[in-house]
Amino acid sequence: MAIKKPKTTSKKATPVKRAANKPKKLSGEVFYPSKQVIAEARLKDWDKLNRSAKKDFRAFWEAEAKELEWYGKWKKVLDDSKKPFFKWFTGAKVNIVHNCIDRHLKTYRKNKLALIWESEDGKEHRTYSYYAMNREVTRMANIIKAMGVKRGDLVTIYMGRVPEIVFAMLACAKIGAIHSVVFGGFSVDSLAGRIEDSQSKLVITCDGSFQNGKIVQLKQIVDDSLKRCPSVENVIVIKRVGNEINIETGRDHWYHELLEQPIAEGKCETEVMDAEDTLYILYTSGSTGKPKAIVHTHGGYMVGTYSTLKYVFDVRDDDRWWCTADPGWVTGHSYLVYGPMLNGATSFLFEGGPAYPEPNRWWQCIERYGITLFYTAPTAIRGLMRFGESWPDKHDLSSLRLLGTVGEPINPEAWKWYYRVIGKSKLPIIDTWWQTETGAFMITPTPVVPLKPGSGTRPFFGQEAEIVDEQGKPVADDTEGYLVLKNPWPAMLRTIYKDDERYVKQYWSKYPGKYTTGDSAKRDKDGYYWIIGRVDDVLKVSGHRLGTAEVESALVSHPAVAEAAAIGLPHDIKGQGIHTFVMLRAGKVASPEVAEELRQHVATHMGPIARPEEVKFVDKLPKTRSGKIMRRVLKARAQGLPEGDISTLEE
Ligand code: PRX
Repeated sequence: MAIKKPKTTSKKATPVKRAANKPKKLSGEVFYPSKQVIAEARLKDWDKLNRSAKKDFRAFWEAEAKELEWYGKWKKVLDDSKKPFFKWFTGAKVNIVHNCIDRHLKTYRKNKLALIWESEDGKEHRTYSYYAMNREVTRMANIIKAMGVKRGDLVTIYMGRVPEIVFAMLACAKIGAIHSVVFGGFSVDSLAGRIEDSQSKLVITCDGSFQNGKIVQLKQIVDDSLKRCPSVENVIVIKRVGNEINIETGRDHWYHELLEQPIAEGKCETEVMDAEDTLYILYTSGSTGKPKAIVHTHGGYMVGTYSTLKYVFDVRDDDRWWCTADPGWVTGHSYLVYGPMLNGATSFLFEGGPAYPEPNRWWQCIERYGITLFYTAPTAIRGLMRFGESWPDKHDLSSLRLLGTVGEPINPEAWKWYYRVIGKSKLPIIDTWWQTETGAFMITPTPVVPLKPGSGTRPFFGQEAEIVDEQGKPVADDTEGYLVLKNPWPAMLRTIYKDDERYVKQYWSKYPGKYTTGDSAKRDKDGYYWIIGRVDDVLKVSGHRLGTAEVESALVSHPAVAEAAAIGLPHDIKGQGIHTFVMLRAGKVASPEVAEELRQHVATHMGPIARPEEVKFVDKLPKTRSGKIMRRVLKARAQGLPEGDISTLEE
């Protein structure tokens, strides 16, 4: 039998002709939505909804909130009397899990798939209906309760991408405990720091996880971390990889053994929470010092993630949604766990990465499960582009109807490849700009919005953004400046855990009344926003957010290092790569072996994602007279660019 050659699309990504309802003519290279996309879209008139939300963003959010179930109604949609400590849906009673699970059990969705999971090696598959999800979450919730965890207590979750991580997050929320998920790619220092800061009583982990066929020793990393964390009373261990691990009697418990005990049995009522009660904390890197924990709530965060996913990815009942992010990052929280379940969607969770064992792994999953909505990061697209079109072309990707991206600016080349090769020049690319702090999409198109490669288009309904100069004055079109947000929004962070002062200073002090994003951006004359990058010392490495300060402190924890500086430099695939400058202690001799040892040291302490591209030995670091390292100068020097204002540079 002759094997048909897979159809290839033309090499050029050609902008689609403007559709019948003719949106206004825009400048630059524009990709207009096709007639089919417009016909299928739930929301056809973006401008109309945008206008009304702009007129009254409270009314917009209130209408969204009414689509969900509440145990008790709010007195006020927004209480801004103590700003910037905004409160949403004050007085309302709710639990996000009620809307993620309980609500669906009363409808046909009870038997609908909530989660489809596939193992890294593709040999194991599991599916959970909303009914099954409720059963698993209830069992986990009963067990967590039996461990003495009460409403308001903190639980650290440190796992691979297995269904139990979703159960664990929802189980905590169900009983009113606060989860703190730590990305399973972080290592001892990062995990210990986060447990120490949060004072968690319970850690939920796995024996290990698979990564590209190798085992990551998660439990061993937990053991090493707990030497520094006396707050932890219990550790629940999910058996995933079957490696040999240490079980400390009294402290460590196998999950499968707990499931056999009567404590797992029986109903577990979903706790009635106040809308403003904390749902979770999530550590993220800031401009200085240690990572800070961002606080999100049950009520507002629920409304924000529900509504943004509904409009932006137009989630329908027959969709199969795949967000490739790890649950350990905010994208996983908002759009792998909460947003999809609030919308009653079917989500796919994949244990592995895009290119193991071969670079068609993701495309294979799209075909196998009929994924319709696919949401990933530019770094992954750039990485997969490298392997060529023959890999995706092996697969039937015709189930797809929308593509998305998040985490860092997408370069037009990657955008066009994604559009042409994966979307067959038909599917909109939804470029969503947001942050751990914003909880939900902030600048993003919906399917009917004309697109420009590399721009997230315009703010989501109810939000207004501005580009300002150092003094806070709006800059002219096409001029780079600081991106700020003008309106409060329900999914906004409420504070930094245990650090209200830093919350105010970091986000609300530079331009009073406006939220400082930490990003620089431009706005063009069509009102489209173009994100340039971070203006602080936050790095974006393969879309992962890391702080220069964390890398530096990992380096100086090595006995040979006296001082260190880390900067991010452009990297073809990762977006940014970490470059470091190290001053050795007296008597220590620089060599390629020491450089390699230091790279490894950072990877061991922080996690492989933080491994520097390069360690350069220097005799001194450029500093201000007050002793602050001038990373800006290092960056300019490394790129052969002008050093800018160096009047504060110490001689
Ligand atoms: O610099 C922006 C970049 O990621 C930062 C937020 O990182 P994090 O809190 O880890 O959240 C990432 C996922 C929501 C932002 O300050 N960023 C995020 N999305 C985009 C982006 N930059 C450009 N385009 C995006 N779509």
